[in-house]
Amino acid sequence: MNTHPRPLVILGGTGDLTGRLLLPSLAHLLTAGRTSPHVVAVATDDYDDDGYRRWATDRLARHGDPADEACRGTVVDALSYVRGDVTDPEVLRAALEKAATFDPRPPVVYLALPNGLFGDTLSALEQAGVPDGTVIAVEKPFGVDGNDAQRLNHLLHRLVPEHAAFRIDHFIAKRTVLNILGLRFANRLFEPLWNNGHVDRVEIVYDEDLGLESRARYYDRAGALRDMLQNHLLQILALVAMDPPQALDAATLASRKADALRAVRAVDPGDAVRGRYGAGDVDGRKLPAYVDEEGVDPDRSTETFAEFVVHIDNWRWAGVPFRLRTGKALATNRKEICVHFRPVPHSPFTDDAPRPNVLRIKLDTDGMVLELDLNGENDPFDLERRRFETDPAAPPVPAYATVLESMLAGESALSISDVEAEESWRIVETVLAAWEADEAPLVEYPAGSDGPQPPASWAQRPDLRSAGC
Ligand code: BG6
Repeated sequence: MNTHPRPLVILGGTGDLTGRLLLPSLAHLLTAGRTSPHVVAVATDDYDDDGYRRWATDRLARHGDPADEACRGTVVDALSYVRGDVTDPEVLRAALEKAATFDPRPPVVYLALPNGLFGDTLSALEQAGVPDGTVIAVEKPFGVDGNDAQRLNHLLHRLVPEHAAFRIDHFIAKRTVLNILGLRFANRLFEPLWNNGHVDRVEIVYDEDLGLESRARYYDRAGALRDMLQNHLLQILALVAMDPPQALDAATLASRKADALRAVRAVDPGDAVRGRYGAGDVDGRKLPAYVDEEGVDPDRSTETFAEFVVHIDNWRWAGVPFRLRTGKALATNRKEICVHFRPVPHSPFTDDAPRPNVLRIKLDTDGMVLELDLNGENDPFDLERRRFETDPAAPPVPAYATVLESMLAGESALSISDVEAEESWRIVETVLAAWEADEAPLVEYPAGSDGPQPPASWAQRPDLRSAGC
């Protein structure tokens, strides 16, 4: 890692993402003994440098980890502010010039903005002119649909080479998600079984008990499918499904993941479910119905729950359904990948039928569980379910800290490639179109419940095998 990061220009410097995640992540890097960059924040709010530093101090006090308190002042001292519209080339030129006064090296320009602003901002950056060697980081979701993603890729490529375009998906920077690489490619045990000969179905679930959390401005236009499934959960699918890479460099990883995504069939809208939470109680907290949350437009029919089953048309995975599911305001935080193996071909046990093995890769805590059937404690000819669990590990480094560190170092292994972004839109576009045309019911579920159940017809469809984790 580079020990002296180059400057960081944050477009959207007073946004929720900056205050809630980016600034706290910089404090975390300092606490962990790393360095933090000079930051030039750009936004339209009426601040000067001191006013912005006060805003940042308040956000760090609200959202920072108490363990990082001693380092917050250092982050704040390295902040400066440019007031203006991020789609105005003059404003961007001023921000780039200010960054150069701190450090002559080309900066990282981070579009921490609503995705509707990406196109105009990239065009303005082109007019402003970025120094050679600049890295441009773009938040997720990358565009609003496939056409938009293509247009953004085109704009990005006019500005910087692909290796300097950093499309963010903080899930692939989570240690828990990167565990998939260690598990699959550092052990002999699993890879021979990692195919349709031995795996019956895979579930990738990210159920959250959090509701909207005052994010209507962004979320009400995105919804669960664009917010989570199109990017985070399809990236997990790509890591689970891809062929073994010969190395873990950015180009190899991107091409393995892109191959896996290319093989995913566009989702049939009949294999998808959408829902929206009503009023309810999540673990003692009362939540209003989503439509009554501040800033929500009920006419948008935004979904807060999305689930679908995808099929991967390749030799390794033909016939194995992958079920992806996520939702807000659900009863439990259930965040895991469940790999369900096929039953044994023949069982010598006459009393108990052995249950198929399940491997659970946890996505919130750093852990894995392998469920096996073993001989019972009392009667050796009985079977008993046993769980082999990893020991609890230290809390993972916040994913945004890892993302920032790697983009500041100019490493792109944790970035999404142009092809991956476009393929991921292709997979979900049929469902998006059907939902936008209101061709599928928007099922209301009470906050604090388990969410909508799959339609009864799914039970008759062997290709949608879906017993739940
Ligand atoms: C974000 C989504 O990208 O990921 C949020 O916008 C979601 O809606 C979040 O809650 C989940 O990630 P994490 O790392 O906070 O669990």
